[in-house]
Order: sequence, then structure tokens, then C-alpha cells
Amino acid sequence: MKRVLGLHQPLVLSPMVDVTDPAFRGLAKAHGADVTCSEMIAAVGLVHGNRTAWSLVERAPNESPYGVQFMSADPATIRDAVRQLAERVKVEFVDVNLGCPAPNILKSCAGGFLMRDPALAGKVVAAARAAADEAGIPHVSAKMRLGPDASRLTYLEVGQAVTDAGADWVTLHARTVAQGYSGDAEWGHIARLVEHLDAPVLGNGDLRTPEDVVRMRDTTGCAGFFVARAAMRDPTVFSRMRKALDGKPPGPEPTMPERMATLLDYLDRSGPDAPIGDLRRMGTRLVAGSPGAARLRSQFNAAADAATLRVLAETTRNSAA
Ligand SMILES: Cc1cc2nc3c(=O)[nH]c(=O)nc-3n(C[C@H](O)[C@H](O)[C@H](O)COP(=O)(O)O)c2cc1C
Repeated sequence: MKRVLGLHQPLVLSPMVDVTDPAFRGLAKAHGADVTCSEMIAAVGLVHGNRTAWSLVERAPNESPYGVQFMSADPATIRDAVRQLAERVKVEFVDVNLGCPAPNILKSCAGGFLMRDPALAGKVVAAARAAADEAGIPHVSAKMRLGPDASRLTYLEVGQAVTDAGADWVTLHARTVAQGYSGDAEWGHIARLVEHLDAPVLGNGDLRTPEDVVRMRDTTGCAGFFVARAAMRDPTVFSRMRKALDGKPPGPEPTMPERMATLLDYLDRSGPDAPIGDLRRMGTRLVAGSPGAARLRSQFNAAADAATLRVLAETTRNSAA
């Protein structure tokens, strides 16, 4: 079995805009995510000193291996971003986003647009690779989709182009760009890419439960897993996924007191200056689907500051225990 970052079948916290900030990544790491990755960062923003971009690439103390995902269609810009990043943040890898379906990103010819153009995708990854080599960043990777739409499945060509250009592994979210997040991820394509490439392939899409991860491993032979929405709702899911991969019973989903403990941990990791909107959103995601979620959501949304949210989380934890 091919290893990624020296790891056997790693569980990776998949990048998510407005979710995978340093505090969240630290939390996922503490609960069994083997590898963490920043959300998609516009390379041009980092190069121009955008403060939010720089705050999002900060590394939490426990993150290792850690990577930053860049979005750009311009080889020169991504090269500059990788160089500047390496001067300020220690990362084990840089990932190139080849899958974002947001209209404004597609318009800029980046993200999922690159699934239309294997040659350009290869040039962008080659630029990242050259800059990473110069700057001492050990690895470069790319995260793709199946292709622009169902009539153009380009993942085999793009996968080949980016690994020829120096990507150490690729991740395949088994949906097309046109699909966005609708329909089911078609894991059969992950198995095809595993067969097609010499480089390791990580699978992504619809890994909702520990059993799903085992099924993806057994049906695709992929070298690791990217988990997004299941982790967004419950960053402790990684430890149960690992147990299932090890052939052990994964154990039950977290109780409400455990979910509140996770929220309190996130508040601690976020520090006093975190925007209250981010903290409230984390609270509502953690209780989604649980009994009493609607009432808790409105209480969280009414919390004026982190201290109020903390009291709410503590009260809910203690009363539900
Ligand atoms: C809120 C949200 C934000 C996302 N942001 C990114 C991103 O910044 N970069 C990226 O490559 N994928 C992004 N994705 C896609 C996920 O990383 C992942 O590929 C997709 O959700 C499928 O995995 P899942 O079924 O485990 O959620 C995002 C997904 C969601 C739900």
C-alpha cells in the first residue's frame, strides 16, 4: 500500500472555507485527524498581504503534518505565494485546488476551471513544485474533481498531468464541478484513478460514517481519505473512523455533553479575539440533528459574545449530563 506523508491510510481533515480555521484544525487533530489542511487560500491574496489570508494559514501548535491549499490559475502567482508562505509558516505540503465550483472562482479560471485544462493544471502544479523545492517544503499535492461535467470526465488526464508535474499525491472528490455537492460521489472513479496513476490517490466524497471509510478503502484501494462535512458537524469523528479502519467497533456518536465539551474546547482554542459569528456557527453545526437543536441554535445565535456562549455551552453540558 502506498504511503502519504509516511502515513498508512491517513485520515485527512479536508479543506473547508469558513470552517477549517486553525482552532478547528487543532481540534480535529486532537481527535484523530492524521493530517490537516488550511481552507482554500487565494494565492494572490497571500502575495498581496491580505490579513485574513495570513491569519488562516497560521499553524495550530499541534498540527503536523500540516498543509496549505492554494487557489490560482497563474503559475507565477502561485510560485510567489509558496515562497512567501515558506518564509513565515512551517508546512509539510502545499495543495493546489483544482475543484472549487464557486462561480466567481471559475470566472477567474482557477479551482474547478482547471479540470477543463490538464496542461494548465500541470503548469500551476509545476510552479508550486519548483517553489516548494527551493523553499524546502517537502510535498506538493492537488485536489481534483471528476471533470467539468458528466460529458467531460478529465480526472485521468488531469491526474496524470499534475503527477507528471511533480504532485506527490492527488485527492479525488468523486463529483463533477457542475454537480457542486448534489448527487452521490461515484467512488468507482476513485478506483479507476488508483489503477491509472503511480502516485497515491486519496479518496473524497460522502464519507459520513466510520463504516463508509472502511467501504471506500475496500472498494477503491485508495491510499487515504479526505473527510469534510462529517467532520464539520463532528470533528471527533476521526477517532471513530480510525477504530473502524483498525477493525474495532467505532463506538457511539457523541452525546450532547460531549458535543458541548467539543464546543468549549473550540472556544478555548479560538482565543478571546475570535469573531462571535464563527463561534456561533461552530455551536450550531455541533448540535445540528440532535434533539433540541432548534432551541439551542436560537440561543447560540443570540449570544452576544464568547463568554455568553461559554456559559450556554456549560449549562447545556451540565443539564444534559
Ligand atoms: C463549507 C465547505 C467549504 C469547502 N471549502 C473547500 C475548500 O476550501 N477547498 C477544497 O478543496 N474543498 C472545499 N470543500 C469541499 C470539501 O473539502 C470536500 O471535497 C467535499 O465537501 C466532499 O467531501 P465530504 O463529502 O466529506 O463533505 C468545501 C466543502 C464545504 C461543505
